[in-house]
Amino acid sequence: MAEGALERTLVLVKPDGVKRGLMGPILHRFESKGLKVVAARLLQVTPELAARHYAEHEGKPFYPGLVQHITSGPVLALEGRTAIAVVRLMTGATNPQTAAPGTIRGDYGLAITPNLVHASDSPASAERELGLYFRAEDYLAYTRSDEKFL
Ligand code: CMP
Repeated sequence: MAEGALERTLVLVKPDGVKRGLMGPILHRFESKGLKVVAARLLQVTPELAARHYAEHEGKPFYPGLVQHITSGPVLALEGRTAIAVVRLMTGATNPQTAAPGTIRGDYGLAITPNLVHASDSPASAERELGLYFRAEDYLAYTRSDEKFL
């Protein structure tokens, strides 16, 4: 990671990831890479929250299935301090069938709607999305013992 200011990002382990028992393996990848988890919630996404989160996709052919899936079970929401671009690289292409091996979607998935994870795609998206899932008091500040290397 290029040295510089760390960014805050939202990562969701979607219902397929939770129900397949992949919260641990997915979180392990991000933690090992150096993502610092500063807030976490296991929650049921409501249709209202899904509509706000995915407002930019409303009207697209895949939108109904996207909302149906994200509301179909618990999601693990993580707020991390890291580089947004690094998390997106680790997540892989939206379609797991073309996502590179070594990425989360490339290693664990086959289908585009249950594609395991969501990760904010820019600082502006991260700020908007984090505001949907976390309140200021959910954020916890602490020091990782390896921060000087990351
Ligand atoms: P996500 O990163 O959560 O952002 C939008 C989601 O829409 C995407 O992951 C996919 O799960 C889902 N999706 C389903 N079909 C498509 C498609 N054809 N193109 C893009 N996203 C899709």
